[in-house]
Amino acid sequence: MSQPKGLIVITGASRGIGLALVYCYLKAGFPVLAIARNAASMRPHKNLTALDADLTDQTAIARIADLVEMTALPIAVLINNAGIQNAIDFTDPDIGGETSARKMRDEIALNLTAPILLIQSLLPLMLRPGGTIINVTSLVSRQPKPSAPVYSATKAGLASFTQSLRVQLLSEGIHLVEAVPPLVDTEMTAGRGSGKMSPQAIAHAIFESVRHRKRLVAPGLSRRVLILNRLLPELVRRILARS
Ligand SMILES: NC(=O)c1ccc[n+]([C@@H]2O[C@H](COP(=O)([O-])OP(=O)(O)OC[C@H]3O[C@@H](n4cnc5c(N)ncnc54)[C@H](OP(=O)(O)O)[C@@H]3O)[C@@H](O)[C@H]2O)c1
Repeated sequence: MSQPKGLIVITGASRGIGLALVYCYLKAGFPVLAIARNAASMRPHKNLTALDADLTDQTAIARIADLVEMTALPIAVLINNAGIQNAIDFTDPDIGGETSARKMRDEIALNLTAPILLIQSLLPLMLRPGGTIINVTSLVSRQPKPSAPVYSATKAGLASFTQSLRVQLLSEGIHLVEAVPPLVDTEMTAGRGSGKMSPQAIAHAIFESVRHRKRLVAPGLSRRVLILNRLLPELVRRILARS
């Protein structure tokens, strides 16, 4: 199946998985709207519009909808990829302070609130039928990582939201995909783990998921962990608790 033509909107596009997705779609000839706080630093391309926007700021979301309207193109694919992961320890003596509160607010705003509000705002501009929304979650949406409790909660929330929305938008001809990357070699995972997948490999798997109308993209180790989690959830919980 070929991918329907239209605009591709990608958040968290300035580096890591998001940047690899941008190149994947540009290479395939799609017009791309790339969003990040430092999107303007991206290498220019005739099919690329880069928008600097902090997605923890809800007014930025209205600006994105305005920009999409100006392109007069329907959105073929919206990829909610931007995310941050903070280690948060609730036994830390400073947990009650403003620094911890800000870290938690930003994590919830970027990982969970922004995708929901972006979908709400961009839905009228999506291709019907044939549009696709891809939400990037994580294996910790299935079994939480104790050292990143807020991150895990946001990803579980986004996975749940994706399932509900898939059913709601079926009649509109809009397809929902959940992407569950394994450990990928990006700034987010710098200095931890081994045998990481390349950002290009996960971007390619996400790109192909649209063509094949998949509901779940879980390449490499992700697929094996998801299967194991269905069979032996307690074992997976213990493994993730050590990570
Ligand atoms: N890497 C992994 O192993 C892994 C595994 C599972 C899931 N994931 C998920 O995959 C997604 C991408 O992760 P990654 O590893 O590619 O991360 P990354 O390399 O740290 O990139 C994060 C992207 O988000 C953007 N961003 C951060 N704060 C933002 C904000 N306030 N407003 C707008 N954009 C913001 C960053 O750009 P600016 O700094 O320019 O804003 C950057 O483009 C995330 O949702 C992550 O949770 C990653």
